[in-house]
Amino acid sequence: MCGIVGYIGKGDAVAIGLDCLKRLEYRGYDSAGIAFFDAEENRVRSAKTLKGVADLGRVIDEKKTSPVAICHTRWATHGGVSEINAHPHGDCHGEIWVAHNGIIENYKELKKWLTARGHTFVSETDTEVVPHLIEEIIKGNKARGGNPSLAHAVREALGQLKGAYGLVIMDKTHPETLIAARNFSPLLLGVTDSGYVVASDATAILKHTNRVIYLDDGDMAVLTGTGHEVYDVGKNLRETTEHTIEWSPEEAEKGGYPHFMLKEIFEEPDALKNAIRGRLVPQEGLAKLGGLADVEERLRNAKRILIVACGTAYYAGKIGEYMLEEYAGIPVEVDVASEFRYRKPVFQEGDVVLAISQSGETADTAGAIREAKEKGVLCVGIVNAVGSTIARETDAGVYAHIGPEISVASTKAFTAQVAILALFAVYIGRMRGMSLATGKRVAEELQKIPELVAHILETQVEHIKEVAEKYREAKNFMFLGRKYNYAVALEGALKLKETAYVHAEGISAGEIKHGPIAMIDKDFPAVVIAPKDSVYEKMAGTIAEVRAREGRVIAIATEGDEALREAADDVFYIPKTLEMLTPILAVIPLQLFAYYAAVLRGHNVDRPRNLAKSVTVE
Ligand code: F6R
Repeated sequence: MCGIVGYIGKGDAVAIGLDCLKRLEYRGYDSAGIAFFDAEENRVRSAKTLKGVADLGRVIDEKKTSPVAICHTRWATHGGVSEINAHPHGDCHGEIWVAHNGIIENYKELKKWLTARGHTFVSETDTEVVPHLIEEIIKGNKARGGNPSLAHAVREALGQLKGAYGLVIMDKTHPETLIAARNFSPLLLGVTDSGYVVASDATAILKHTNRVIYLDDGDMAVLTGTGHEVYDVGKNLRETTEHTIEWSPEEAEKGGYPHFMLKEIFEEPDALKNAIRGRLVPQEGLAKLGGLADVEERLRNAKRILIVACGTAYYAGKIGEYMLEEYAGIPVEVDVASEFRYRKPVFQEGDVVLAISQSGETADTAGAIREAKEKGVLCVGIVNAVGSTIARETDAGVYAHIGPEISVASTKAFTAQVAILALFAVYIGRMRGMSLATGKRVAEELQKIPELVAHILETQVEHIKEVAEKYREAKNFMFLGRKYNYAVALEGALKLKETAYVHAEGISAGEIKHGPIAMIDKDFPAVVIAPKDSVYEKMAGTIAEVRAREGRVIAIATEGDEALREAADDVFYIPKTLEMLTPILAVIPLQLFAYYAAVLRGHNVDRPRNLAKSVTVE
């Protein structure tokens, strides 16, 4: 999510660090910072900016050189976009400095404990607990006559952190040491002729080296300018292997993928893990949504939820409608934000508006919230961009935590939004009579979802590519789904329209007999979403109806469903899951199908014509 860089060696750490950081800027981070050891003044100096990496050079006086530096580009998660919240973060005396990518789940407990022991915090971030914790451990070790080294304290501190982290750590008292640690967040060591460069992304370091050592989860690397030691999760020194990266810097930006859209589809398992992480208590069948704590009572007493969003986020909202009505027993209405704000909605006591937005800057969604707030209605959000307009203007909310989405066509944001809506259904459902058993069941199935998405990506991609080629000449598509997967039909059609410029209509399968089936013939194929769920028989009937009119059918089916292999022309298989979660799986083949259809037609996949990533005008 965030970009981190560290350097130690004979080179100029400030210049190398800033140069590497610049290479991460294309992702559109919101702030940047650096900390480095100033030997002349015998202190660590830091600088932060909201204006981009070039500005950091200006702030710190570019002539400064240093043997060790850590740098960061931030995509805000805990705490808004501000210089104070930008990394690196320091301890009480400005000696120990940390740059972090990930989320420290137990930061509140640690902060409370450290505050009670006299530590002063200046930011709202989860990260700031790390330098203070290390400071506290070193102090304790010294007092007991134990090992006062930075490495020793960091190892002890890591044992107390829960959550995901890629960390780079430096200390004024040990300028000859740079520490890197990884747990569920990417981090690699680059071996250069002059020393070591650590980064969260290979993109950052390629100008300086293509020799890398990959760190595993639980690893802690202790680097000096001339050597490295890597300790595994069991604190054992482990052998490391050097690899060579073959990518050009341009290829590396996309992680070796030809387009951001494909990269972001492949990021979905991790994005889902990040969206869910720390938010489920499966054994108690509960969802923990800290961002809603302040409005919990009002949510408990809510009488109706009004979901507002645009485009892909609106389709996620439609899935949320079904989840909340079925699992939380609360009435829900979903509106396209541009309609909602102009249709003079009638609000009632107990209404809650839920805005869904990846960018948090969509003008119509922001306008819909303002309309509701003027009438005194509680507004909550599901937003990805921290500190964005919608995040600020809603009363409370849940962040998606999926990092920046660069491709104009939204993919990982959609699946994360649906996962968060499932969390929300458990959160609010359990307040309103959802049984422990149901809460547990949803929580357990939701936890498995990232692996199931990964499984689809492992098994289906080549086949989807071939099928996209097979249907290359088709000028029209119908996407059909029912119940939870009606909105997936709408989203599948939108993806094909916006990336491949192919006419596609998403239709509720029950509606085709009321008109649309007239269009079906051998040149008008249908994509039919038919997992084994409560409407499976009806969807099988739809497939038969389309085939009877010579329409070709691509079915999305549950693994093991041989009947649909017979009934349809082509099948994309997805694993079995709970019915309410099938949209997260069913949409993956449709995203890939649209992607390959666009590539085959030679389009600029990441920047479709006439579209912008965030629609900040009405
Ligand atoms: C489609 C797409 C758009 C957005 C819509 C809302 O792939 O990206 O339909 O979903 O413009 O954007 P956000 O979620 O930023 O409010």
